[in-house]
Amino acid sequence: MIKAEQVSKHFGKVKAVDGISFEVQEQENLILLGTSGCGKTTTLKMINRLIEPTSGNIFINGKNITDEKPEILRRSIGYVLQNNGLFPHYTVAENIAIVPQLLKWDKKRTEKRAAELMEKLHLSASYLNVYPNELSGGQQQRIGLARALISDPPVLLMDEPFGALDNVTRANIHKEFKALDELKRKTIIMVTHDVQEAFELGNRICLMDEGKIVQSGTPADLLFKPANKFVEDFLKDQRLQLEFKTVCLTDIWSLLPNQHHKIDALTLSADTSLWAALESFRFSNAETIHFSKEDKEVKTIDFEQLMSAFNQYKNKQA
Ligand SMILES: Nc1ncnc2c1ncn2[C@@H]1O[C@H](COP(=O)(O)OP(=O)(O)OP(=O)(O)O)[C@@H](O)[C@H]1O
Ligand SMILES: [Mg+2]
Repeated sequence: MIKAEQVSKHFGKVKAVDGISFEVQEQENLILLGTSGCGKTTTLKMINRLIEPTSGNIFINGKNITDEKPEILRRSIGYVLQNNGLFPHYTVAENIAIVPQLLKWDKKRTEKRAAELMEKLHLSASYLNVYPNELSGGQQQRIGLARALISDPPVLLMDEPFGALDNVTRANIHKEFKALDELKRKTIIMVTHDVQEAFELGNRICLMDEGKIVQSGTPADLLFKPANKFVEDFLKDQRLQLEFKTVCLTDIWSLLPNQHHKIDALTLSADTSLWAALESFRFSNAETIHFSKEDKEVKTIDFEQLMSAFNQYKNKQA
């Protein structure tokens, strides 16, 4: 749905973005991951033409974005700015109504849609009448998301949307983010410098450094088939946790013993990540858990069997 071909942006001598190419499929969630200054925001802004590339082309649905007027292009692209970008002198309702005003929606329609989004994002309707600085950072970021979603654009660009949040709030928002039906239908490019966030929310990840894409692939590709030492080092500190979150029981299914004991135990889906399975062992204090694959096959597994299968799986990847 979105395709970038050899796109560069130079600011004088600074090669902010240096010949990057990537593709995003419809309803996919692509993450641009990288340290500060590697060119993430510049890349995002070239997609909605807030910045024009020095060279290269970007296509949305096969159409070169330079063939469309920027104002028209932006109607189909929601944009959540880094640090939420709400106008401080506009109320929340006024902030959310910016795009509907451009689209000349009548007042009733805007109000109805705003109320709907506030509810979906778990925000009290009373916030509509306050100014952004009267809200917490997390609430402001939700408002930024509501503003980007209001006209239901098929494409959503999000620049560090959860950047300002503490870990607990961030984990909660991640859960909501994954559950929100409005977002499941969208093609999303999200920027983050947080490795955990990238792995949790991305179908695919482009790891960037100094304006270039170092590797692009699924979370499992980056973990188990790192392109080079840079990728390896980037993930090093959190490797084990990322592996547990990325690998599902289905991935190691054939390595788990074929056994089903008819005992009273917790049953989990085989789509569960290893991380979630380990947490279930810990929190339920269970010796064994039943894992059910597509409601057809059940295996009764203990902690050691799980870890042993995981280690075999890892050895196979190497
Ligand atoms: N308007 C500009 N003029 C000159 N240089 C710029 C401009 N915008 C960005 N740059 C430079 O381009 C590089 C990439 O900037 P960009 O904002 O894309 O980084 P980023 O990956 O989003 O970083 P962060 O994580 O800190 O937001 C930086 O070196 C920055 O200084
Ligand atoms: Mg940035």
